[in-house]
Amino acid sequence: MSGTTMPGTTMPGSTVPGTAGAEDVAGAEDAAEVVIVGAGPAGLVLGNLLLGAGVRCTVLERQSRAHVEQRARAGFLAANTVRVLTENGLAEGLLKDGRQHDTCAFRTDRGEFHLTYGSLGRGEAHTVYPQQHLVRDLVAEFLARGGDLRFETPVVGITGLTGDRPAVTAQSADGTLHRLSARFVAGCDGRHGTARTAVPVGAVRRYRRDHGVTWLALLAAAPQSMGPVAYAVHEDGFAGHMARTPDITRYYLQVPRGESPDTRPDARIWADLAHRMRADRHGPLHEGPIVERRTVEMTSDVLDPIQYGRLFLVGDAAGLISPAAAKGANLAVMEAEILARGLTAALRGGDEQPLARYSADCLPRIWRAQEFSHWMINLLHGPAGSDDDAVFLRALQQARLESLQTSRRHQDHFAENYVGI
Ligand code: APR
Repeated sequence: MSGTTMPGTTMPGSTVPGTAGAEDVAGAEDAAEVVIVGAGPAGLVLGNLLLGAGVRCTVLERQSRAHVEQRARAGFLAANTVRVLTENGLAEGLLKDGRQHDTCAFRTDRGEFHLTYGSLGRGEAHTVYPQQHLVRDLVAEFLARGGDLRFETPVVGITGLTGDRPAVTAQSADGTLHRLSARFVAGCDGRHGTARTAVPVGAVRRYRRDHGVTWLALLAAAPQSMGPVAYAVHEDGFAGHMARTPDITRYYLQVPRGESPDTRPDARIWADLAHRMRADRHGPLHEGPIVERRTVEMTSDVLDPIQYGRLFLVGDAAGLISPAAAKGANLAVMEAEILARGLTAALRGGDEQPLARYSADCLPRIWRAQEFSHWMINLLHGPAGSDDDAVFLRALQQARLESLQTSRRHQDHFAENYVGI
């Protein structure tokens, strides 16, 4: 690679303490004002908003374009997320193909009740739009706007965070290392990414909890079996049904911790789902091949603050939330909007105050989402067993469900937190 020069390059062989040796770094560049690590919802929304504000940014993504555009994850967009995307010209796909969603059903041994939460609380609804489609749209828009997005370019080190120009070391597809320095770095690389590891131990406080619940997350090549999102509370464990597209449906099945995703053959899965969904009472499920299965352990963590020097964490890199209330991607978009405003004010207006408040502005909303997600976990999952504690907690669970079914105030509170971010 020697002799290759990159735009805005200083000479090859510049030193990067704590990461690659001087001899390992083939090139250095300092064109970007912000380097964004990771091209998931957090990184791509941030990149598009910064580009829209005229801020020069570079997005570095470890995986290939095909991989990030096919990775099926969430798909339940809150009203705030749709607002941010619409206001920034990023919503063409979801406004065309997304489906409004304003009702959820709860099935218990005492029957089924529906909550039309779209006409409760603040009157907000969700939009169902598969996350991989959203990521595909955001990638296309970022590139169409002339954005610098590099796939198959894993970041291997982040340094100089307390100096004026932090640096990111990334590996190109050909294996050579490049150093990119910028005014700020946004860590949008998820829970296991490099950004978190760049924060010195003790510099931030980490709150974490293992909720002790595990879901088998399934995608079935079958149309939805019922209208709304349905949560089935059952003594044998939770089951959930969520529409995705006309021929793909998401199901969740509570399984013992440590169970391999391949333990249950398709037929067993459909039998377990039908049993817990009480299909004998409410109608059969539309079955089809299970096209994706993985286990999700219900754990949560929150970092405080979600910034260190000139590094700002966004999305899963900033904290994990259980999928019980479909908040993950929506929190990522909320944080990306607040950070984009702060970075733009600092880089275009010379005002660093909004940026300094990034954590303080995001954390109350993050904790509110965590609180609601925790409440949902306790609503949907009763402890197994016949000891006094388990029996008492399941009775509390029943009381919570009854209050939700009968109390208008409780329903308004539910709706506000179910959709709100
Ligand atoms: N270098 C470059 N890219 C990296 C690195 C690295 N060292 N490590 C991880 N990445 C990339 C991943 O390949 C992934 O594309 O960072 C991206 C992180 O994206 P997500 O995991 O989707 O996280 P985020 O953008 O925070 O989205 C948050 O969306 O998928 C939902 O529920 C999920 O809560 C989650 C939410």
